[in-house]
Amino acid sequence: MSDSGYYKGNICIVTGANSGIGYAVSEELLRRGAIVYMAGRSPEKIARAADQLSAYGDRVRTLIMDVTKQEEVEKGIAGAAAEAGRLDMLFNNAGVGGTLQFETATLEDWKTIIDVNLWSVIYGVHAAVPIMLKQGSGHIVNTGSVAGLIPFPFQALYSLTKYGVTGLTECLKYEFADKGLHFSVVCPANIATPIFNKAIDGKAYGELRIPDDAYPVDKAAALILDRVAEHKGIIIVPEEPNTEAWRGYVCGDPEVEELLLQMARDRRAAYEKGGMYF
Ligand SMILES: NC(=O)c1ccc[n+]([C@@H]2O[C@H](COP(=O)([O-])OP(=O)(O)OC[C@H]3O[C@@H](n4cnc5c(N)ncnc54)[C@H](OP(=O)(O)O)[C@@H]3O)[C@@H](O)[C@H]2O)c1
Repeated sequence: MSDSGYYKGNICIVTGANSGIGYAVSEELLRRGAIVYMAGRSPEKIARAADQLSAYGDRVRTLIMDVTKQEEVEKGIAGAAAEAGRLDMLFNNAGVGGTLQFETATLEDWKTIIDVNLWSVIYGVHAAVPIMLKQGSGHIVNTGSVAGLIPFPFQALYSLTKYGVTGLTECLKYEFADKGLHFSVVCPANIATPIFNKAIDGKAYGELRIPDDAYPVDKAAALILDRVAEHKGIIIVPEEPNTEAWRGYVCGDPEVEELLLQMARDRRAAYEKGGMYF
């Protein structure tokens, strides 16, 4: 692999590592020679996930942390860095989905999604940056979404958190560029993971299933690590047609405007019929 040098021997923490993108990124990091702390909130789930990667021996390690709890994130990151002697990379990946109708979303729904998707990243960055600044090196990779670049209707809650992740990551990328620190924001489109099978606070609209056009998660992980190694700031997965759509949205392309309006109409009609999730 051409970029193995970027990962070989690196101390990495991946949150949400027991499932989906986090698990696939952990596996790909191990394949490329890194030492990986797989972080999750459930000791059983994270132990099971680490067990599946036991072929990588003592390069697979585990951390228990609920990313919505600042003390747990702080303790987990500081503990891993102290044990390993440094922290090269942090993947703030844990998160939840959220396609909800504004009218039925409660303020609790807003709080839950902001805690899991945005405060988690703030806590992670807050804990890792001082360690990396002291070292004079490090790379933080936050998972946003294409919904943090394009405002998909009926995703106001989710989009709020993911735009936040994009903004904070991009600002810090420039702010710390001369301090040896790197920042990337991963913006996935539909990737085939269990996220599609989960309800938000018990709210599910219609069938929960992975969309037919979802991109394979192992290919997503490989692409993410290729682009991270190139120090790319915004990493869109898969790159096309999503990069073109993003450019179109930013430039006010009437076709993209029409597409978003049509999506809003289709989704509202589906909700009104009583069935719609993603
Ligand atoms: N898949 C997609 O199409 C897609 C698209 C855009 C963005 N994303 C983003 O990609 C990231 C990974 O999602 P995924 O698709 O891999 O979903 P996933 O398979 O559902 O994995 C989500 C992971 O986050 C963990 N998590 C959730 N809440 C947590 C908490 N409070 N503390 C610690 N861990 C927590 C989950 O742990 P548990 O198993 O314990 O719940 C799980 O390990 C998320 O940030 C998501 O928003 C995904």
